[in-house]
Amino acid sequence: MKLKNLFLPVLCALRLGLALATAAEASKPLHTFAIGTNQFLLDGQAFEIRCGEIHAARVPEPYWRNRLKMARAMGLNTICAYLFWNQIEPRPGHFDWSGQADLAEFCRIAQEEGLWVILRPGPYSCAEWEMGGTPWWLLKDEDVQLRSRDPHYLGPAKSYLKEVGRVLGPLQVTRGGPIIMVQVENEYGFYGNDVAYIKQLKNTLQEAGFEVPLFQCNPPDVMKNGLLTNLFQAANFGSDPQGNFTKLRVLQPQGPLLCSEFYPGWFDTWGQPHHYGNTPRYLADLKAMLEVGASFSIYMVHGGTTFGLWSGCDRPFKPDTSSYDYDAPISEAGWPTDKFFKTRELFSHYLLPGEAIPDPPDTNAVITFAPVELKEIAPLSDNLPAALKDAVPRNMEAYDQGYGCIWYRTTLPAGPASLLQAAAIHDFGYVFLDGEKVGILDRRAPSAKLMLPVRRNDSRLDILVEPMGRINFGPEMADHKGLIAPVKLGGAVLKNWDIFRLPLDGSMLANLNYTPVKLPPAQPAFWRGSFVLDQPGDTFLDLRGWGKGDLWVNGHCLGRYWNVGPTQTAYTPGGWLHAGTNEIVILDLLGPAKPEVAGLARPILDELHPEKDFAPSRRPHGMLNLASVKPALSAEFMPGAESQDVKLPVLVKGRYFCLESLSAFDGKPFAAVAELDIFDARGLPISHDGWTIAYVDSEERTKEDGTAENAIDGQTADYWHTEWSADEPAHPHQIVVDLGQSQTISGFRYVPRQSPGAGRIKNYRIYVGENLILR
Ligand code: GLA
Repeated sequence: MKLKNLFLPVLCALRLGLALATAAEASKPLHTFAIGTNQFLLDGQAFEIRCGEIHAARVPEPYWRNRLKMARAMGLNTICAYLFWNQIEPRPGHFDWSGQADLAEFCRIAQEEGLWVILRPGPYSCAEWEMGGTPWWLLKDEDVQLRSRDPHYLGPAKSYLKEVGRVLGPLQVTRGGPIIMVQVENEYGFYGNDVAYIKQLKNTLQEAGFEVPLFQCNPPDVMKNGLLTNLFQAANFGSDPQGNFTKLRVLQPQGPLLCSEFYPGWFDTWGQPHHYGNTPRYLADLKAMLEVGASFSIYMVHGGTTFGLWSGCDRPFKPDTSSYDYDAPISEAGWPTDKFFKTRELFSHYLLPGEAIPDPPDTNAVITFAPVELKEIAPLSDNLPAALKDAVPRNMEAYDQGYGCIWYRTTLPAGPASLLQAAAIHDFGYVFLDGEKVGILDRRAPSAKLMLPVRRNDSRLDILVEPMGRINFGPEMADHKGLIAPVKLGGAVLKNWDIFRLPLDGSMLANLNYTPVKLPPAQPAFWRGSFVLDQPGDTFLDLRGWGKGDLWVNGHCLGRYWNVGPTQTAYTPGGWLHAGTNEIVILDLLGPAKPEVAGLARPILDELHPEKDFAPSRRPHGMLNLASVKPALSAEFMPGAESQDVKLPVLVKGRYFCLESLSAFDGKPFAAVAELDIFDARGLPISHDGWTIAYVDSEERTKEDGTAENAIDGQTADYWHTEWSADEPAHPHQIVVDLGQSQTISGFRYVPRQSPGAGRIKNYRIYVGENLILR
């Protein structure tokens, strides 16, 4: 059946009459917004939502209006906005809605610019944001069960939602504001299936005064998990509206069609290729939705920047870049792109009689400046605060610290070369013996261990731990940071530690002791310098001479940087600069190649430097050895994009799980996998915590991000894909997951690539074992 036929009732209803009111025209009068039988109803009239997502937190507050005007000028009539609980409630019970967190002001500006608002307050948001928007301080309780009815989570979550109702409830359409709908939780079906939890959140939002329609959103494949009947369901997907809406219709036979997240591009993670969306396909899918009168929200219409230390981390450990450009129609710096103009053109054919799209506003002035040298330095080791004492090292949260770095110190007795091993490192541990750097403990490695050299006398061991953002997706979100005990040397537990908290906040930055740089030391240090401007304007700081760390301009934290790329510049809003002298501070944990910074006219978002990575190699685990291993299963997948649960004939035990593709449904040489889950003896998915890719025979890393890690990151919108640009290696293809420890396995879930294209696997074999990899 054609998409059009499937959704005929929606089309007919839309033709009967559509609401033309924009949020601005109607600013003061009260409105109604409802979910009708087959359409949304604004003041009783059919209304199609053309929406795009913008996060207030990711756009400098002085630029909100410009970005919202730009979104309206693309032809949108609605804006979708997450709220991040951890930004609004930095400490338990202490709410702060000021500055970047002034969501009421953001909504008011949206309304003035003619946009309705769909609010997504969480309490969990995902969004490549630190811990998915939930606050770190929940982790002070080691046993807290996030996103559940555990009172240690649900209690604070409810009090936060009540506060959201107090501040934003008055901005609903029913009370003269722009808010037409409010989302409950976020893609919960990926995570759990406790309907009672969703019900409690829904009730809390209603008790908090939200009277506009509430809804849940999920990719259709997981929508049935935790689905609360009588709550409106919306679908998230990046392609194939017909297939996805058909699946939605199975669970929700009636009601308007809403794609609540439609992806024009994708986010980036450090060390992986930059993402570009497929514009022709994106436009074709949008057109298909417009043709049937479906509503949608483009995630993101403008991604912006994850300033500060707010960027999150994908599964199992893929830290997100600070640039959240997303290859969105409106670029990170607010520029309309080719995709913007093509989308605008498309929308112009679907306007209502009398409806017009305004002209795009001006973009900000861009300035450049020549390289300046940062001439002052404040080594971290000379700027440590008073020590806390502890018998054994504990995670950062246990020391009441949420963000920044943390430094652990102890004394080692004289002795032979021996192995230093922690239970885990979250995320990078720079290790020094008597002040000399001896190596880096790296969360990407299968274990947190390092060989220490001979010590003739007692020696001082220092471990500076740099956490990246906390995981924002999946069951690994309780991502405690720091050195995870026990820490052993040659098998003996190390005791008596000094702990130094380095929160990297304003007060720490204000109290650093700088001296002029003599020899550039390769030790973790703050560097300080300045640049002089005649006129402020937006610029992109060139960080290609620097190693890894964070940076600040005039006290504003611009985010994280890392020389491996793909991001090599930092977007610097002109609103945070001024005529005259501007201060720049860079914390570099590796040491710069050249301590210089220039202001560029354009961003560099797609320059990878794997050779600069301090990991010995991306896959240090060895070679595949299937010759003597008997397959646990030889079989054939079903065609199509449906996820498939497969039971193995018998339980098998092993640390390594290998999927070998022997052929593809389209007869081509490629293999692709959107997601793999592996089931334990009870048939339940095993946590991806500690998982790594031990081996993959081929992956496309040039023309698209086909890296193997995409198959275990929990996201079904991206995928592992074998090489297709420079070469086209033939089947068989193998992808091997290292589970971190031996597990009993009863089966697995294979999610084929979701977007149409090559690589859906037909014949395959599964191998499980302890020795699939030669060391
Ligand atoms: C999901 C989430 C969003 C975001 C996207 C990827 O769909 O709901 O918050 O994380 O993935 O950008």
